[in-house]
Order: sequence, then C-alpha cells, then structure tokens
Amino acid sequence: MAQTSKETTSNKTPSGQNAASLDKIVSLAKRRGFVFQSSEIYGGLNGCWDYGPLGVEMLNNVKQQWWKNMTYRENVEGIDASILMHPRVWEASGHVENFTDPMVDCKQCKARYRVDILLEEVSIKKQLELIRQYHGVDKGAANFPKSEVDIKKEYGALTEQHPQEFINLMNCPNCGNKGTFTEARKFNLMFKTFVGPVEDSSSVVYLRPETAQGIFVNFQNVLTASRQKIPFGIAQIGKAFRNEINTKNFLFRTREFEQMEMQFFVKPGTDDEWFEYWRGERMQWYIDLGMKKEQLQWHRHPKDKLAHYAKDAYDIEFLFPFGWGEIEGVHNRTNYDLSRHEEYSGKSMRYFDEETKEKYTPFDIETSSGASRSFMAFLVGSYHEEEAPTAEGTSEIRVVLKLHPRLAPIKTAVFPLVNRDNMPEIARKIEVDLRPHFRVFYDDSGAVGRRYRRQDETGTPFCITIDSQTLQDQTVTVRNRDSMRQERIGSTRVAEYLTDKLK
Ligand code: GAP
Repeated sequence: MAQTSKETTSNKTPSGQNAASLDKIVSLAKRRGFVFQSSEIYGGLNGCWDYGPLGVEMLNNVKQQWWKNMTYRENVEGIDASILMHPRVWEASGHVENFTDPMVDCKQCKARYRVDILLEEVSIKKQLELIRQYHGVDKGAANFPKSEVDIKKEYGALTEQHPQEFINLMNCPNCGNKGTFTEARKFNLMFKTFVGPVEDSSSVVYLRPETAQGIFVNFQNVLTASRQKIPFGIAQIGKAFRNEINTKNFLFRTREFEQMEMQFFVKPGTDDEWFEYWRGERMQWYIDLGMKKEQLQWHRHPKDKLAHYAKDAYDIEFLFPFGWGEIEGVHNRTNYDLSRHEEYSGKSMRYFDEETKEKYTPFDIETSSGASRSFMAFLVGSYHEEEAPTAEGTSEIRVVLKLHPRLAPIKTAVFPLVNRDNMPEIARKIEVDLRPHFRVFYDDSGAVGRRYRRQDETGTPFCITIDSQTLQDQTVTVRNRDSMRQERIGSTRVAEYLTDKLK
C-alpha cells in the first residue's frame, strides 16, 4: 500500500525508446475498440475509462495469465473479497489517517493540485527563477546554481523543506494567476459512501483503495479452510478506487482501476529470502509475456522514503512514452497489517506452527501489480511501426501490436481469399470449428493485404487464408503477424496448430 499515492514517473533518456507516443496509443485504443473514455457522450468522467470489445478481452487475458501464474501453485490460494468493507478495516490499515496527499486549490479558478506534482512539473528555467525569487535575489546575482544538476539539487532540497513558500511564488498552471494558492491541506484519497438509507457518520463506508486488506482480514479463514501451512500466499484480483487529485497519462493514474495482489505469509526471519524470490518471479512474469528487458527496471525505495510498515520495497518500472513509471510494487510489509488487525478487531492473527510449537504473527511479502497499468504497458511495449512491402511492389508503414499470443485479444482471423469457388464455405467451416476454443475473427472484405494490416493493428498473431490450393490439397496458409511469413498446414490441423502456439 502506498500511504500516499506517491508513485512517480521520471524522464531519464532511455535506451530502446518506444515507437509509441501516448497520443498514438490512445488513438489506436479508441479506433480499434480497446479503451474508450468513460461516459464520453456526456463529455467524459476524468480518471475513468471503459474497456471496449478488444480491450476487455485483452484485460481478461492479462488477469488470467496472472491468476494462472500466481495461484496454480501448491502454496497460493485465491479469494475474491468484497469492495465495501467494515470501516474499522481502514482505521486499522492506517488509510483513514495516512492515505492522504497534500493539495492546494487555486482561489481564482478553483483548480486543485497535488503539492508534490505542482512542484515537480516545473521547467529548469522556472526552477532557477523560483530559487532566485525565494532568496529575493535579482537575475544578475552570481552565486546561484549554474548547471542543470545543481539547479535540480537545490530546487529539490528547498521545495522539500519549504513547499508552501514555493507554492506561493508559483503561477496557477490553469489560470496563470500568481499567489492565488491556498495553504496546503491533507486530502484523503478514499471514496466515501454510505450503507443503508441514512447518510450519517455511522453509516460511512469506503470504496477500497487497495485489494490487500481483503486478504489480511481473511487470513485466518483461508488458513483454516485450505489447511495451508506457513509459508503460503493469498491472491486476489479486483477493482480499487482512489480519488486521485491529478489523473494523467491515459490508464496510468486513474480513479478506478484493477489490482492483482498477492500476500505471501512467511515466518519472521525468512522474509528477506522470500522477498528476493518473489522479486525474481514477478519480473520474470512480464518478460515471459513479451516485455523487453530494456523496457523494465527496478526502483528501490530509499530507506527514508519507505512507508512506515515496510522493511523494504521495490517497484518494477516500465518505460512508458512519458518516462519510467511503476507498474508493480514488491513490498516486505513485515507483520504490520496482521498485527494492526489483531489490535483493532481483538481477533488473533497469529499462526501456530505444529512442528516447532512456535506461535508468531507472520511477515508478509506483497506483490502488487496494476492490471490496468500492466495492460497499458503491454499495449505500449507491443506497439510497432514498420516498413512493409505492398502487393504493388512499393512499401508502406504497417502498425502492428506484437502482443504475446496469450495476451492478444483475437487469436486468429480466417479469410477466404475470394468470395467464390467454395472458399467462403470452407473458411466458415474452419471458423465455426475454432470458435468454441479461440476468439476468432472472420473477414472477407477487401484485398487480403488490407485484411492482414487490420489484424496487425489489433495484434492478431495468426491469420488463416483459404485459397485456390486449399481446393486441391486441403491445406491453408497460416501467416505469422511478426515475421509476416506464411506456411501451409492441413486445414484440419488449424486448432492443433493454434493450441500449440498459445501454450
Ligand atoms: N497494496 C499495495 C498497493 O496498493 P501501490 O503502490 O499503491 O501499492 C500498487 O499500488 C499498484 O497498483 C501500482 O504499482 C499500480 O500498478 C497500481 N495503481 C496504483 N494506483 C493506481 C492508479 N491511480 N491508477 C492505476 N493504477 C494504479
């Protein structure tokens, strides 16, 4: 859990920069039915997005891959806890008190900003200007930081110590007015609602800001029901809600999103070892699903920035078009959460080890991935623009999503080369046979090259074409999305071929 939503993005110049710009991704996502703005016909709702026909398919694939990878193990169980929980849960977890961001409002235009982001999103030139203004020195003064590194360093140190003074010197990015910001206030990011018909403080509940707490409060239930022994884990996928002050970068920071979290409970003293184990497992998951190593990196939380419950914490960061951004946190949460729930509920959260006769509160290693953020990272990482030959002998730019076949929303497309000579009938038969097992798309319109391009854009890994040779020897062509190479296989072998490729 981030007690403040403090994940950052950095703009370090990357090696292997994505071809994708955010605008291209957002436009493709809309055009091809991956993601739409929520309530678009009413002007949209900030920080909320809808998954279209291909998006929901792909998001389900991401979640299914995670679920299989994490719970098809001997020592991990799954649950699905409710989104609304007893309000005491959030007192025990520390969210009521600490899940806050300092924010300021512009008195003039009423725009609201997170203090850290407002201070962060300032050009170097402006940083220097603000440092000078802060010291009350005119532009000609000599003893001020000259290099970019020094300016950044001084600006970082000063704004950490005196954020309000700097905010007071700034212009509102929305209306341009200066000195119009309020004093910074703590803003709790949990959405509140009420259970039952009476809307008073006794009926307040929160939309969960993380799925993890549903796991902690069920620790004893799962332990007893599953007859697991420590070490073991509990995994869950589900929606989480945060009233983020600044939503941004498409699906990166939204108000409603999905998490894929696992809490692995271990004996204190073995936690460092399990922490390393799960770090390795989690990074490998992204690589196995096609992310390039150079687009992934670890960011370790500095000791003085660790959340109060954490002994150690690493983020897996992905190289988005706007810079590196966290897609998953791996945290050693110690026995903080279980101990707090024991304290607040009065119910024991301890574990009795039958073999050693020891009783202890387990430590927790958490792996916390954003399903929606990972979805976006998979989209960005797979986006390619390449030069490809046309039927006329020229070349054109093809847009292709090189998604891992297991994540691709459509697994195969079936094309009759022409709409005659029994080709459509054969193609329809293949499509009908495949449909119960795979997401299939049938397309008989336009030149076959155009049909390939349309499928490339949605990441379909294999296209099956029925042509004149099919009529003679019952073979079809299978065209590979990434290599664009074609091979012939027997028409009755298509299902077997796809099953093998999707393993
Ligand atoms: N239980 C731990 C926890 O919630 P976190 O670092 O706050 O930790 C974990 O969140 C992951 O959830 C992040 O790495 C990110 O992928 C996703 N996430 C968090 N806030 C998000 C937001 N506002 N929009 C989209 N994804 C978010």
